[in-house]
Amino acid sequence: METTLALIKPDAVQRNIVGQIITMIENDGFLIKKMKLMKMSDELAKKFYSVHEGKEFFSKLIKYMTSSDIVALVLVKEDAISSYRKLIGATDPETAEENTIRKLFAIDKSFNSVHGSDSIENAQSEISIIFGS
Ligand code: RTP
Ligand code: MG
Repeated sequence: METTLALIKPDAVQRNIVGQIITMIENDGFLIKKMKLMKMSDELAKKFYSVHEGKEFFSKLIKYMTSSDIVALVLVKEDAISSYRKLIGATDPETAEENTIRKLFAIDKSFNSVHGSDSIENAQSEISIIFGS
Protein backbone atom coordinates (compact mmCIF):
# COMPACT_ATOMS: atom_id res chain seq x y z
CA MET A 1 0.00 0.00 0.00
CA GLU A 2 1.19 3.50 -0.86
CA THR A 3 0.25 6.93 0.50
CA THR A 4 -0.20 10.18 -1.40
CA LEU A 5 -1.23 13.75 -0.68
CA ALA A 6 -4.19 15.24 -2.53
CA LEU A 7 -5.31 18.86 -2.44
CA ILE A 8 -8.66 20.16 -3.63
CA LYS A 9 -7.68 23.67 -4.69
CA PRO A 10 -9.46 27.02 -4.11
CA ASP A 11 -11.27 27.11 -7.48
CA ALA A 12 -13.00 23.80 -6.66
CA VAL A 13 -13.91 24.74 -3.07
CA GLN A 14 -15.36 28.05 -4.34
CA ARG A 15 -17.48 26.26 -6.99
CA ASN A 16 -18.96 23.72 -4.49
CA ILE A 17 -17.52 20.65 -6.23
CA VAL A 18 -15.58 19.21 -3.28
CA GLY A 19 -18.15 16.43 -2.84
CA GLN A 20 -18.07 15.43 -6.50
CA ILE A 21 -14.26 15.26 -6.45
CA ILE A 22 -14.18 13.20 -3.23
CA THR A 23 -16.79 10.84 -4.72
CA MET A 24 -14.50 10.26 -7.73
CA ILE A 25 -11.57 9.62 -5.36
CA GLU A 26 -13.57 7.09 -3.28
CA ASN A 27 -15.05 5.40 -6.36
CA ASP A 28 -11.50 4.87 -7.65
CA GLY A 29 -10.70 2.80 -4.56
CA PHE A 30 -8.74 5.26 -2.42
CA LEU A 31 -9.11 5.12 1.35
CA ILE A 32 -9.17 8.52 3.05
CA LYS A 33 -6.73 8.38 5.95
CA LYS A 34 -6.70 12.09 6.85
CA MET A 35 -8.72 15.07 5.65
CA LYS A 36 -8.99 18.75 6.57
CA LEU A 37 -10.33 22.07 5.33
CA MET A 38 -7.64 24.73 5.71
CA LYS A 39 -6.35 28.00 4.33
CA MET A 40 -2.74 28.06 3.17
CA SER A 41 -0.66 30.96 4.42
CA ASP A 42 1.69 32.67 2.01
CA GLU A 43 4.61 31.04 3.82
CA LEU A 44 3.10 27.54 3.65
CA ALA A 45 2.21 27.85 -0.05
CA LYS A 46 5.75 29.00 -0.90
CA LYS A 47 7.22 26.08 1.05
CA PHE A 48 4.79 23.58 -0.52
CA TYR A 49 5.55 24.74 -4.08
CA SER A 50 9.22 25.66 -3.50
CA VAL A 51 10.20 23.47 -6.49
CA HIS A 52 8.54 26.09 -8.74
CA GLU A 53 10.30 29.12 -7.21
CA GLY A 54 11.68 31.34 -9.97
CA LYS A 55 9.24 30.14 -12.66
CA GLU A 56 7.08 32.78 -14.38
CA PHE A 57 3.86 31.35 -12.94
CA PHE A 58 5.14 31.15 -9.31
CA SER A 59 3.58 34.33 -7.90
CA LYS A 60 0.27 33.62 -9.69
CA LEU A 61 0.33 30.09 -8.21
CA ILE A 62 0.93 31.37 -4.65
CA LYS A 63 -1.82 34.00 -5.00
CA TYR A 64 -4.22 31.30 -6.26
CA MET A 65 -3.39 28.71 -3.58
CA THR A 66 -3.84 31.27 -0.78
CA SER A 67 -7.02 32.84 -2.23
CA SER A 68 -9.49 30.70 -0.24
CA ASP A 69 -9.83 27.45 1.68
CA ILE A 70 -8.53 24.18 0.26
CA VAL A 71 -9.21 20.57 1.28
CA ALA A 72 -6.16 18.39 2.02
CA LEU A 73 -6.38 14.59 2.03
CA VAL A 74 -3.99 11.74 2.75
CA LEU A 75 -5.01 8.86 0.48
CA VAL A 76 -4.05 5.18 0.63
CA LYS A 77 -4.21 2.67 -2.22
CA GLU A 78 -1.94 0.26 -4.07
CA ASP A 79 0.30 2.46 -6.27
CA ALA A 80 -1.54 5.48 -4.84
CA ILE A 81 0.83 8.08 -6.31
CA SER A 82 0.60 7.05 -9.97
CA SER A 83 -3.01 5.93 -9.59
CA TYR A 84 -4.07 9.34 -8.25
CA ARG A 85 -2.04 11.23 -10.88
CA LYS A 86 -3.89 9.15 -13.51
CA LEU A 87 -7.26 9.98 -11.91
CA ILE A 88 -6.57 13.74 -11.93
CA GLY A 89 -5.14 13.87 -15.48
CA ALA A 90 -2.65 16.26 -17.07
CA THR A 91 -1.93 19.71 -15.58
CA ASP A 92 -3.78 21.39 -18.48
CA PRO A 93 -7.43 20.23 -18.81
CA GLU A 94 -7.19 20.74 -22.57
CA THR A 95 -4.71 17.85 -22.78
CA ALA A 96 -6.09 15.78 -19.88
CA GLU A 97 -7.74 12.45 -20.68
CA GLU A 98 -11.53 12.10 -20.72
CA ASN A 99 -13.21 11.44 -17.35
CA THR A 100 -10.22 12.66 -15.33
CA ILE A 101 -10.90 15.16 -12.52
CA ARG A 102 -9.09 17.97 -14.34
CA LYS A 103 -10.80 17.25 -17.68
CA LEU A 104 -14.18 17.39 -15.95
CA PHE A 105 -13.62 20.26 -13.53
CA ALA A 106 -10.45 22.34 -14.10
CA ILE A 107 -10.84 25.88 -15.42
CA ASP A 108 -7.44 25.97 -17.17
CA LYS A 109 -3.82 24.90 -16.62
CA SER A 110 -3.35 27.44 -13.80
CA PHE A 111 -6.66 26.97 -11.96
CA ASN A 112 -6.82 23.21 -12.22
CA SER A 113 -8.84 22.11 -9.17
CA VAL A 114 -6.55 19.44 -7.67
CA HIS A 115 -2.99 18.56 -6.71
CA GLY A 116 -1.33 15.16 -6.39
CA SER A 117 2.14 14.20 -5.15
CA ASP A 118 4.48 13.01 -7.91
CA SER A 119 6.89 10.70 -6.00
CA ILE A 120 7.18 8.74 -2.74
CA GLU A 121 9.69 11.27 -1.38
CA ASN A 122 7.52 14.27 -2.30
CA ALA A 123 4.40 12.59 -0.87
CA GLN A 124 6.12 12.11 2.49
CA SER A 125 7.48 15.66 2.53
CA GLU A 126 4.14 17.20 1.43
CA ILE A 127 2.21 15.21 4.06
CA SER A 128 4.51 16.51 6.78
CA ILE A 129 4.24 20.10 5.46
CA ILE A 130 0.43 19.93 5.54
CA PHE A 131 -0.34 17.57 8.43
CA GLY A 132 2.90 17.62 10.46
CA SER A 133 5.00 14.53 11.06
P1 RTP B 1 0.35 19.87 -8.93
O1 RTP B 1 1.80 19.93 -8.49
O2 RTP B 1 -0.48 21.01 -8.39
O3 RTP B 1 -0.26 18.53 -8.68
O4 RTP B 1 0.27 20.05 -10.52
P2 RTP B 1 1.18 19.36 -11.63
O5 RTP B 1 2.22 18.48 -11.00
O6 RTP B 1 0.28 18.76 -12.64
O7 RTP B 1 1.84 20.63 -12.28
P3 RTP B 1 3.16 21.43 -11.84
O8 RTP B 1 4.01 21.57 -13.04
O9 RTP B 1 3.75 20.82 -10.60
O10 RTP B 1 2.57 22.86 -11.50
C1 RTP B 1 2.03 23.14 -10.23
C2 RTP B 1 0.80 23.99 -10.38
O11 RTP B 1 1.14 25.30 -10.82
C3 RTP B 1 0.09 25.83 -11.63
N1 RTP B 1 0.61 26.13 -12.94
N2 RTP B 1 0.30 27.22 -13.58
N3 RTP B 1 1.70 28.18 -16.79
C4 RTP B 1 0.88 28.24 -15.74
O12 RTP B 1 0.08 29.15 -15.60
C5 RTP B 1 0.95 27.19 -14.74
N4 RTP B 1 1.67 26.08 -14.84
C6 RTP B 1 1.45 25.39 -13.69
C7 RTP B 1 -1.00 24.76 -11.69
O13 RTP B 1 -1.93 25.02 -10.64
C8 RTP B 1 -0.20 23.50 -11.44
O14 RTP B 1 -1.02 22.46 -11.00
MG1 MG C 1 3.49 19.12 -9.38
